[in-house]
Amino acid sequence: MATAQVCVLFIVICTTLAEDVELKHKPVRLFTEEELKRYDGSKDGQPIYMAVKGVVFDVTKGKEFYGKDAPYNALVGKDSTRAVAKMSLDPADLTSDTSGLTEEQLTSLESIFEGTYKAKYPIVGYTASRILNEDGSPNENFRPEDQPHFHIKDEF
Ligand code: HEM
Repeated sequence: MATAQVCVLFIVICTTLAEDVELKHKPVRLFTEEELKRYDGSKDGQPIYMAVKGVVFDVTKGKEFYGKDAPYNALVGKDSTRAVAKMSLDPADLTSDTSGLTEEQLTSLESIFEGTYKAKYPIVGYTASRILNEDGSPNENFRPEDQPHFHIKDEF
């Protein structure tokens, strides 16, 4: 292999490793239900957060949708996965529970998750359903969502 090729390979490997290391050290904020509830848009000046599929998004810039008295205010301060999947504001659907959803609703959820939430709003953390196993132990398979165009906010 020519020296130049070896050099390029070396740089590529170094860059890949550097990204891996950096990712491992990014802080990940775990939101409890109570904590997420604080960001329900009821207080002026407070950021507005909502979770979809256990991923907490800062939806403050969508205040006209999610703020106090706005049409989708019911979705914020909690994990509203089911409501988003069903396009429903029924209080019974304001939950992370996805049991019994149809294929069509799950496909719709996926496309809104990717096309609206991940594309438009920065991720600020995760709920326990994403980070922890049911017994409270860390979920070894947890990987932060890939969202390269936003910087994860560190609010510790
Ligand atoms: C008659 C019923 C509805 C109408 C006319 C309507 C209309 C709209 C419109 C026009 C937008 C796009 C606004 C924009 O991007 O500028 C929007 C976004 C949205 N709608 Fe609805 N909607 C309706 C019902 C619902 C219901 C029942 C839900 C329940 C979950 C819902 C959830 C959303 C969400 C989550 C967004 C995205 C907001 C964002 O970009 O962050 N909508 N709606």
